[in-house]
Amino acid sequence: MTGSGDIRHQTGHDSATGKPPPDGRERIESIYRAAPIGIGLVKDRTLLEFNDRLCRMLEYSREELSGSNTRIFYPSDDEYDYVGKEKYRQLREQGTGNVKTRFLTKTGRVLDILLSSAPINPEDLSAGVTFTALDITRDIQREAQLRQVRKMEAIGVLAGGIAHDFNNILFPIMGHTELLLEDIPADSPFRNNLNKIHAASLRARDLVKQILTFSRQEKQRPQVLIMQPVVKEVMKMIRATLPAFIQINEKIDARCGPVRADPTQIHQVVMNLATNAFHAMEGTGGELTVSLTRADQISRDPKTPDMSPGPWVCLSVSDTGAGMDYITAEKIFDPFFTTQKPGKGTGMGLSVVHGIVTGMNGVIRVTTEPGRGTTFDVYFPLVSETEDEETLEVTDPVPGGTETILLVDDEPDIVSMEMQLLEWLGYHVIPFTSSVEALERFKTAPELFDLVITDMAMPGMSGDKLAGKLLKVRPDIPMIICTGFSQIMDQEKAISLGFKGFLYKPIVMKDLACAVRQALDSQA
Ligand SMILES: Nc1ncnc2c1ncn2[C@@H]1O[C@H](COP(=O)(O)OP(=O)(O)OP(=O)(O)O)[C@@H](O)[C@H]1O
Ligand SMILES: [Mg+2]
Repeated sequence: MTGSGDIRHQTGHDSATGKPPPDGRERIESIYRAAPIGIGLVKDRTLLEFNDRLCRMLEYSREELSGSNTRIFYPSDDEYDYVGKEKYRQLREQGTGNVKTRFLTKTGRVLDILLSSAPINPEDLSAGVTFTALDITRDIQREAQLRQVRKMEAIGVLAGGIAHDFNNILFPIMGHTELLLEDIPADSPFRNNLNKIHAASLRARDLVKQILTFSRQEKQRPQVLIMQPVVKEVMKMIRATLPAFIQINEKIDARCGPVRADPTQIHQVVMNLATNAFHAMEGTGGELTVSLTRADQISRDPKTPDMSPGPWVCLSVSDTGAGMDYITAEKIFDPFFTTQKPGKGTGMGLSVVHGIVTGMNGVIRVTTEPGRGTTFDVYFPLVSETEDEETLEVTDPVPGGTETILLVDDEPDIVSMEMQLLEWLGYHVIPFTSSVEALERFKTAPELFDLVITDMAMPGMSGDKLAGKLLKVRPDIPMIICTGFSQIMDQEKAISLGFKGFLYKPIVMKDLACAVRQALDSQA
């Protein structure tokens, strides 16, 4: 062995005391004790010397390890043979060896180990080899976690992109179906089929929402929200779809106050939890109980120290189904974790719920017992009712009008769909698929138009640029912007750019009708 780190070369007297230094044996023993890693000496595959750290690492006593065959370290014969061969190959070729392997402890735990070795005598490997064993289990786990996070990010970006395009495909399907439903006679034999198409496209839209929420591309639209009507609406859907062998109980306290939330997200939370509850009872039947109550205090959670002190609104979804063992329960919030058959569950449901709830500074508590059932308690911070913000209001009739609208979107399908929707509402529409041409047309007769509806992302001139130019021509022209990619635009930004309204695609007729009427009326 060579190198300045070699113990045997370091002689010389202590300059302060003049005493000779401790001999090699004492020094080596002191290093054995000090080292935060396992150290040992092996000859003929037999463990001759080792430090206490190695005993603790492998969970054996000194007596048990002393003189044992090193096979005892390894989880399998293969691993033992591989390490032996690889180590000696490196020792012969490089003088020292470094092998990543795994050790098996006495109680059966498997550790990831970096095993480094050097021969006592480089000329004669049979004279014995010293080794150090570094436990790298944690590092390997951390690496795996990091890889998982990166993978999730990549999937998020990919899924978000697909969802965005998919939205544009979905939009005309939904819109044309709505138009047909409005137009055909009440007793038409096609009504049933159209209703089915509409219901399916709404489900597809919800799925896209899930994906966008997960990939964080769906901007939340939180508002002061009374949750009862949203929960009741979901329960209505659930009642309509669940089989009769599941009894549904609803305990909704009408008085528990508002929370700050996006109604579609609350919808997603209830829907996901209730669907899981149903799956847990699918084979056996049972009871699904959904309750909404006020909780003034909940126990503190050491994992979330900066939890809001309350009061809370507690949404509780509980079932009398299969329940979970603790190994499953630990993983349920992991993206793509599912115990459903391949092709059935995505494993995204609870990841989305978790993302939404923590995004609202809420807390989720799970109580479960195999064979007895599961309860998810979701706590949302209560907002004081005096906060003067508009609460969710539901306006029923679809408002129309007769004004003239300049409509701009680079997708011909979307233009034709929106045009039909608007014409059905009574408006006169002048459509464009090019923002440059739309601007030219507007300049020729600015007073002709009462409203402009434009897409955001367009080649040539984007919606916000177009808006700036239109406002220069006519500063009082009301405008609405539509966008599918909510990252680059939100309500506040739209208003700051001079827009009167802001719509996410795919647009439902009612949202469009309300936004158009509101923008027009804001001028009056
Ligand atoms: N109420 C419940 N009872 C028993 N197990 C549950 C319950 N809720 C969730 N789980 C377990 O957690 C797993 C993950 O749930 P999650 O909602 O994330 O995905 P999923 O339901 O499997 O798939 P998807 O929601 O996409 O249909 C489920 O596969 C199931 O094993
Ligand atoms: Mg689920």
